[in-house]
Amino acid sequence: MAVDLLLGLQWGDEGKGKIVDVLTKDYDIIARFQGGPNAGHTLEFDGIKHVLHTIPSGIFHDNALNVIGNGVVIDPVIFKKELENLDQFEGLDYKAKLLISRKAHLILPTHRLLDAASEASKGKAKIGSTLKGIGPTYMDKTGRNGIRVGDLELADWKDRYSALRDKHIAMIDFYDAKIDYNLEELETEFFKAIKVLKSLKFIDSEEYLYQAQKAGKSILAEGAQGSLLDIDFGTYPFVTSSNTTAAGACTGLGVAPNQIGEVFGIFKAYTTRVGSGPFPTELFDEDGETMGRVGNEFGATTGRPRRCGWLDLVALKYAVQVNGVTQLMMMKGDVLSGFDTLKVCTAYKYKGETIEHLPYNIEPENVDVVYKEMKGWQADLTGMTEASQLPSALMEYIEFLEKELQTPIKIVSVGPDRTQTILR
Ligand code: IMP
Repeated sequence: MAVDLLLGLQWGDEGKGKIVDVLTKDYDIIARFQGGPNAGHTLEFDGIKHVLHTIPSGIFHDNALNVIGNGVVIDPVIFKKELENLDQFEGLDYKAKLLISRKAHLILPTHRLLDAASEASKGKAKIGSTLKGIGPTYMDKTGRNGIRVGDLELADWKDRYSALRDKHIAMIDFYDAKIDYNLEELETEFFKAIKVLKSLKFIDSEEYLYQAQKAGKSILAEGAQGSLLDIDFGTYPFVTSSNTTAAGACTGLGVAPNQIGEVFGIFKAYTTRVGSGPFPTELFDEDGETMGRVGNEFGATTGRPRRCGWLDLVALKYAVQVNGVTQLMMMKGDVLSGFDTLKVCTAYKYKGETIEHLPYNIEPENVDVVYKEMKGWQADLTGMTEASQLPSALMEYIEFLEKELQTPIKIVSVGPDRTQTILR
């Protein structure tokens, strides 16, 4: 069976957690392939909100096994807290349902400190990182210095840990940024968390997934962040440190490209971004404020308010293309209820030309946006359950996007709960 992918097409926070949760019933295995606890996947059911950072969103379903792939970076301390949160669910045997790749890299306490020192040293040019140590951990991975989950099974791993920690401390001093920390406390917490991590099952995930596929198991690879935060194809340097796009699922799980089946692309009916970096359709007016308020646009990991703006079709087309999206899912349609007029960015004015593709530089000084105006709708969508109930102006919006993106929109989400999901 092919491996299906589920990816965010914007700057993250598209609502992937909810959709994986909705789709999980159809899959035997849910696998995370990149990123780390910078992600915050929010799921809402039975009136309660749950935020997952490292653990795949299939954990709440009885049928699904959950794999943390080699492309993920794990902070044992945050991971331990996530597991403790799961303890409140009676009967949820996460030890039986969670498998961790030996090749996944570990975020050390000093990676987090390095992240803070690096950001502080950048001043105005800071990335707006979640400060979870993501960048420094991937730097150690590609620099061939990292510590992997599988190393925890080796006798000398603590020596390797100490050597890397000492190097990090020298680097923190180099940054000349005032970072206060108590290493002893951080390490006590870290080693306690390592014990918990070691109580879970480690696997060679590429082999495990290969055999699972051969045995006819269905697999969904769950992306984190969004395509425009991809280290190669995003708005560099204001990006995260992994490949968030479709190819990242191959390298982050060991799945061959010809084994990829459906590519589900998730986008919001408008656009948001947290952290720094260009955002051509960003709004600084009442409309943006309304989107943020109605859409409750605050980061699930950091609590930071998200920047809001109209849908950017130029950027969305790019993401559909880079990922090879086969089906689209539009989230938060309900947040746009009440606007008389909606705007969609259909082109950029770039260096005196009108273009419809994402150019190298999309900073405000390089790009002016071209908008198409569309009629809004007033109806409250949150109680709707059938596509036939959706207002005609929303259907026009959806059909326009499908035509432009040449990809069908199969799900329209009209609220955060599992049940507020309309299939088309
Ligand atoms: P980092 O990956 O924590 O270093 O953050 C780099 C950039 O990616 C910052 O702009 C973050 O706000 C953004 N970012 C990282 N993870 C997420 C996410 O899960 N959702 C949205 N933005 C994210």
